[in-house]
Amino acid sequence: MSNQTSHRVAVIGGDGIGPEVTTAALDVVASAGVALETKSFDLGAARYLRDGFVLDDATLEELRAFDAILLGAIGPAIGDTRIAGGVLERGLLLKMRFGLDLYINYRPFHGVEGSLAQGLDFAIVRENTEGPYAGEGGVLRYGTAYEVATQGSVNTRFGVERCVRYAFSRANQLSCKKLTLVHKTNVLTFAGDLWRRVVAEVGASFPDVEVDYQHVDAACIYFVESPERYGVIVTDNLFGDILSDLAGAVTGGIGYAASANLNPEKNSASLFEPVHGAAHDIAGTGKANPLAAISSAVLMLEHLGEVDAARRVAQAVADFEGDVAALGTRGVTKLIQERL
Ligand code: IPM
Ligand code: MN
Repeated sequence: MSNQTSHRVAVIGGDGIGPEVTTAALDVVASAGVALETKSFDLGAARYLRDGFVLDDATLEELRAFDAILLGAIGPAIGDTRIAGGVLERGLLLKMRFGLDLYINYRPFHGVEGSLAQGLDFAIVRENTEGPYAGEGGVLRYGTAYEVATQGSVNTRFGVERCVRYAFSRANQLSCKKLTLVHKTNVLTFAGDLWRRVVAEVGASFPDVEVDYQHVDAACIYFVESPERYGVIVTDNLFGDILSDLAGAVTGGIGYAASANLNPEKNSASLFEPVHGAAHDIAGTGKANPLAAISSAVLMLEHLGEVDAARRVAQAVADFEGDVAALGTRGVTKLIQERL
């Protein structure tokens, strides 16, 4: 069962619960019989506070050459004001997403028992290198009564098209073959129109996929009231960020939500991380839910071509029935390992 070649994986445990859930994910990968050659990178809030290092170009280049990057969580505790907003987000996470051209953020959701979307599967395909995240804009007359702050949204045909194409190919693999574009075409008329036309154009090559469109505000209602209407949702960077947290909430909590920051052509290492943050309040208590990190490792295994191991771990997560809060990180991880 085990693949003879071992994959080279960069591991960024990060802050708070990040290292614990990452260890859990790596333990599960080992139990699934996949050999990884790992190298740890000490990056994140703790590192920054210690010596001011965020991520330099040399380290980014080193990361690029790996087969994958597995990340736990990055960030200081809530209320810790020693790190200005954006230092780690832009300097570390977005530097990797942009620098490694990880233009897809793929986030599959499965409604766990008792959740609003119980038993349902859908996925968000979020454009990951453009939109308002591109950082266009600036400040004039800072701090004065005449201050001007602009923050533009970048939408290129190239960027939108490659994202939409990936979303269609994902939707085409589903039995329901549904794709929903979520945007705000009634107000963001320039960007919205580009997205809409690109979906129509790319969709011509996927005649079996049923295409729907929703405004993002309406989608917030449908996510809660009728999540069964979705297969793949494709949307821009910021809408995708916001909808991911809502999707996490309706499928059982962000503690289950996995994500893959992908360069589908494998020109650089793709990055796999849970959607959740560092949760410093429960770090070290053994209470963190490792399932989001484990499901992120499933996405990593798929990307590495370890499809059989990925399928077995995904099945073990889907079959998991225990009480996460009572079992804790180790207990949940052990149960998953036993089912493999
Ligand atoms: C996410 C996170 C990031 C984002 C932050 C930490 C920059 O919220 O991965 O969803 O906004 O993309
Ligand atoms: Mn987010």
